[in-house]
Amino acid sequence: MNYQIVPMTAAHLDAVADLEKICFPEDPWSRRIFEETLSNENTTSLLALAEDGKVLGYLFFSAVLDEGGVDNIAVAPAARRQGIASALLEEFHRYGREHGLASLFLEVRPSNTGAAALYEKLGYREVGRRKNYYLDPKEDAIMMKLELTTCT
Ligand SMILES: CC(C)(COP(=O)(O)OP(=O)(O)OC[C@H]1O[C@@H](n2cnc3c(N)ncnc32)[C@H](O)[C@@H]1OP(=O)(O)O)[C@@H](O)C(=O)NCCC(=O)NCCS
Repeated sequence: MNYQIVPMTAAHLDAVADLEKICFPEDPWSRRIFEETLSNENTTSLLALAEDGKVLGYLFFSAVLDEGGVDNIAVAPAARRQGIASALLEEFHRYGREHGLASLFLEVRPSNTGAAALYEKLGYREVGRRKNYYLDPKEDAIMMKLELTTCT
């Protein structure tokens, strides 16, 4: 599948909010949360766009001091297992290296074994658990970390 990774703009808000409802049906971010995130100066908002302009995936990440964190990532069901999430996260890692970040963090539900496998494959390792971090349904979070200095 041909796609490009590009910065998100306000023109994509509806498409991103629609895809979010498909990817996180139980507890989606609202359009308003996406709007606020897009205008947050600490956050980078990236899209994977198909040739026809369709939003195939998105990644929001933030950086504070020398740490980065994934705020949200999803790929449209029909576009999965084609490397799109990996490509989005590689942009995060590139940003981290260019901006001197030491560590990148993310959280994942233990039940989300597919996402956890993706993160493991990219070098993230479990560094702790947060009790009852998620609601709807309630679940702990696995906290994962990638040390950029050891990233090849
Ligand atoms: C998790 C998600 C973002 C992965 O996106 P993706 O574009 O399919 O991921 P990639 O194609 O880059 O996957 C790279 C590798 O990660 C692993 N992986 C990804 N999804 C997997 C799955 N469902 N089961 C097992 N391994 C998986 C595989 O090793 C895969 O390589 P392979 O396809 O060659 O076997 C996507 O499934 C999604 O949007 N899920 C719903 C939203 C979500 O859970 N977001 C993460 C919240 S923490």
